[in-house]
Amino acid sequence: MPSASAAAAALVLLFLAFSLSNAQPGFISLDCGGDDDYTDGIGIQWTSDAKFVSAGQEANLLLQNQQLQQYTTVRSFPADNRKYCYTMNVRNRTRYLVRATFLYGNFDNSNVYPKFDLSLGPTPWTTVVIDDATTPVVQEAIILAAAPTLSVCLSNASTGQPFISTLELRQFNGSLYYTTDEKQFFLRLSARINFGAESNASVRYPDDPFDRIWESDLVRRANYLVDVAPGTERISTTKPIFVSTNEEPPQRVMQTAVVGKNGSLTYRIDLEDFPGNAWGVSYFAEIEDLAPNQTRKFKLVIPGKPEFSKPTVDVEENAQGKYCLYEPGYTNIPLPFVFSFGFKKTNDSSEGPILNAMEIYKYIEISVGSQDANIMASLVSRYPEAGWAQEGGDPCLPASWSWVQCSSEAAPRIFSISLSGKNITGSIPVELTKLSGLVELKLDGNSFTGQIPDFTGCHDLQYIHLEDNQLTGALPPSLGELPNLKELYIQNNKLSGEVPQALFKKSIIFNFSGNSDLRMGHSNTGRTIVIIVCAVVGAILILVAAIVCYLFTCKRKKKSSDETVVIAAPAKKLGSFFSEVATESAHRFALSEIEDATDKFDRRIGSGGFGIVYYGKLTDGREIAVKLLTNDSYQGIREFLNEVTLLSRIHHRNLVSFLGYSQQDGKNILVYEFMHNGTLKEHLRGGPDDVKITSWVKRLEIAEDAAKGIEYLHTGCSPTIIHRDLKSSNILLDKNMRAKVADFGLSKPVVDGSHVSSIVRGTVGYLDPEYYISQQLTEKSDMYSFGVILLELISGHEPISNDNFGLHCRNIVEWARSHMESGDIHGIIDQSLDAGYDLQSVWKIAEVATMCVKPKGVLRPSISEVLKEIQDAIAIELQRELPSSIHHLMSKTSPSEAVNTTGSVQDLEQNASFDELLMRPGLR
Ligand SMILES: *[C@@H]1O[C@H](CO)[C@@H](O)[C@H](O)[C@H]1NC(C)=O
Ligand SMILES: *[C@@H]1O[C@H](CO)[C@@H](O)[C@H](O)[C@H]1NC(C)=O
Ligand SMILES: *[C@@H]1O[C@H](CO)[C@@H](O)[C@H](O)[C@H]1NC(C)=O
Ligand SMILES: *[C@@H]1O[C@H](CO)[C@@H](O)[C@H](O)[C@H]1NC(C)=O
Ligand SMILES: *[C@@H]1O[C@H](CO)[C@@H](O)[C@H](O)[C@H]1NC(C)=O
Ligand SMILES: *[C@@H]1O[C@H](CO)[C@@H](O)[C@H](O)[C@H]1NC(C)=O
Ligand SMILES: *[C@@H]1O[C@H](CO)[C@@H](O)[C@H](O)[C@H]1NC(C)=O
Repeated sequence: MPSASAAAAALVLLFLAFSLSNAQPGFISLDCGGDDDYTDGIGIQWTSDAKFVSAGQEANLLLQNQQLQQYTTVRSFPADNRKYCYTMNVRNRTRYLVRATFLYGNFDNSNVYPKFDLSLGPTPWTTVVIDDATTPVVQEAIILAAAPTLSVCLSNASTGQPFISTLELRQFNGSLYYTTDEKQFFLRLSARINFGAESNASVRYPDDPFDRIWESDLVRRANYLVDVAPGTERISTTKPIFVSTNEEPPQRVMQTAVVGKNGSLTYRIDLEDFPGNAWGVSYFAEIEDLAPNQTRKFKLVIPGKPEFSKPTVDVEENAQGKYCLYEPGYTNIPLPFVFSFGFKKTNDSSEGPILNAMEIYKYIEISVGSQDANIMASLVSRYPEAGWAQEGGDPCLPASWSWVQCSSEAAPRIFSISLSGKNITGSIPVELTKLSGLVELKLDGNSFTGQIPDFTGCHDLQYIHLEDNQLTGALPPSLGELPNLKELYIQNNKLSGEVPQALFKKSIIFNFSGNSDLRMGHSNTGRTIVIIVCAVVGAILILVAAIVCYLFTCKRKKKSSDETVVIAAPAKKLGSFFSEVATESAHRFALSEIEDATDKFDRRIGSGGFGIVYYGKLTDGREIAVKLLTNDSYQGIREFLNEVTLLSRIHHRNLVSFLGYSQQDGKNILVYEFMHNGTLKEHLRGGPDDVKITSWVKRLEIAEDAAKGIEYLHTGCSPTIIHRDLKSSNILLDKNMRAKVADFGLSKPVVDGSHVSSIVRGTVGYLDPEYYISQQLTEKSDMYSFGVILLELISGHEPISNDNFGLHCRNIVEWARSHMESGDIHGIIDQSLDAGYDLQSVWKIAEVATMCVKPKGVLRPSISEVLKEIQDAIAIELQRELPSSIHHLMSKTSPSEAVNTTGSVQDLEQNASFDELLMRPGLR
């Protein structure tokens, strides 16, 4: 054997020399945030990560102690709901070690220790938690590449910003780390320990040709290798060890070991993210020169698991020689979080056990990813230069690409593509027609040429935006056969031929103006024909079209007997002014007109979400409220126009009317009707100029008006609109003190039940805690805010106050709830209300408000249910004004079912801690 091991050692040395001089085959070593390529002290060649990632910001760390060069820079990413991916080329069907390291070093000067998620392609890998600014966090995984590229993505920051220091890829060959389930599971490293190490330093490249990092057992960490048995001694040798089998641990690691001089070795170690199923092996080699009459035989001991103690290890015999590797282990063993293990000598053994090294990995199930991943990979590969095509990773998991929206299934499908205004040329990529779950397709404002492809495969397609491109040819008849089509925009292209008849037989919004060679075809008599071309010639027609547009977007209260037909010729007459705003049915104001009306933004009347509001008066005498949006409200012109389009379709008596918009000189302006009596907030608190509303019936009427407006947003519009920022300062009062809801629609609508989550928007005190935590937006978040408004109407207090709610409470919800629970309705009623209200109607509103502010959204009522309660309360008040003979006297009883009793204490606590969270400075 010695000759064989010597030969093997020579081979290993040769291999080392080879890899040293040859830029490490199969190594990728990215110094994240670094600009230079360099070779470090141990011979690893680092490169800048800039070519492997399409986003992020570089930062230099100011470190006190000497750090390795690769740790002196990081790349950080925004803490938003996107993911940021590194994409590296790999050899398919080859196993790789992937290592990512994170040294925080206070790169953002905030001293907020980041916490975020790391994923391998679509599969969650781990959550990176930083709890020390100067020690790198290291994450390793071993995965079989199943495609020519491998992506590592950062996402879902819960504190701080996601960042990364290094990303390393090491290719394994042969059968190293082969597991039978490697296509379904990858291995996440939990422990890789070099026992008997001579110093604290880890062993890695070039001692380990695969650059695994073998941690020294001398390194002391919490719950890491504790409960060491007495009599444990460290031994080492300089003789070569034969290691070229199985996982090929490095010789240097095998040359040291611990032995249990008193008969046993024991250790306890915390395994992060366990319990779970593990791949775990021990590495043994006999490195003591035992006399012929000496033996070393021992068994594994796992407390409580006698079944693992059956096999006896006789290192020399099992390895077929001294100084040879023997590697027993379990390829699939369930392990607990706190793992105790040991080795105990057998009775017939003269020597105690030996242990040279050990590795434990957890099996992580590989996500299959989104159903459309291959189609999308093919799509983006067509645009190697475009930034939007370089986001990397799976299109949907763990977060979707910025221009894609996905369903929430385990294997998601893409339902929305938004590539508006991306300067894309060439024909419309055929991959799009293969996305079977597609509902919305936005390709407008690019330079697409060629024909519109056949979208028959996208059965669910509802919204198609192809306007403002260079598309040619005829409209494919298949467009008319899309069963769910609702909106089709193809204006301002070079399309020709006849519009397919089938398109006229549908109730859709269809804009095909600005295609000079496109013909209408023959007349379409009978049938329900609703063709709406929003871009029309005269202002009157624009107005009509606008009305029709929203009529068909939002449900009409009364069914009109006749279908409306508005047909405008696809006019060559269209001036550039109109074609520019062809998608909108809203009125466009010139900036000069707005400036004249507002006297150059002279009178500021408020500020709301997204901007400042000014008073204005148009030349025709109409008073207007002009909202000048802050510049960062929208990413681009398109987004602004999209929202304007949406706003122009929403119309209701209890919503502040949207009159038009202006977009010029970098200013985005929305114009609304002016509401003479300001906000509800002012009329609840009272002020120098504001009359406090002291009539309870009047407050109920305001609640009713607001509820009607919200009901329309929630149930009357398709897709549903969630307000997201309901508060008493967003409920405005007109000349007659009737209320209208303001500031709606400036947010993305809910698309087909899957909730579009974007950065949490809302106001402290009104913000739904469930939404804040989950970021899943539903109508029930508005209900929470509305519940707070109802409590304001009852009490006259602001939702957050340091003075009004007693010693330990700053929040109206908690305060009202505790009064309600003790049956003390008087304690929350505004003292300045006019006497003579019926206590029962107040109870009714207080109860429904309590329901609205329940911590769990599913337990909150719908706006329609709330509206009914308000109307009942009004009925009680009106009845009271009738002769006293039928005046019922229930008002003194406090309804026992006023508050749900079970669980309310818990709810209270949850709310309290949530409030704490919100009140912390810096969060908002
Ligand atoms: C990668 O290998 C797998 C088999 O392990 C095969 O199914 C797949 O098609 C390959 N992918 C590519 C892009 O070659
Ligand atoms: C994001 O992180 C939070 C907290 O760490 C976790 O509860 C949540 O499941 C994560 N979300 C996703 C989509 O992984
Ligand atoms: C593994 O790769 C190294 C160099 O990268 C090579 O010398 C060695 O022969 C390979 N082993 C197997 C089993 O392919
Ligand atoms: C190892 O590091 C610890 C601190 O982590 C230190 O106390 C100890 O002296 C070091 N031991 C060696 C052998 O370097
Ligand atoms: C090891 O065992 C011997 C005798 O069995 C005993 O004297 C000695 O104290 C033990 N050592 C330790 C560290 O427990
Ligand atoms: C082994 O043999 C040596 C002499 O060669 C003797 O001194 C020693 O006690 C023996 N040890 C055992 C465990 O029998
Ligand atoms: C659009 O693409 C062309 C080349 O295809 C390029 O010259 C031009 O700068 C791009 N415009 C923008 C705004 O990116």
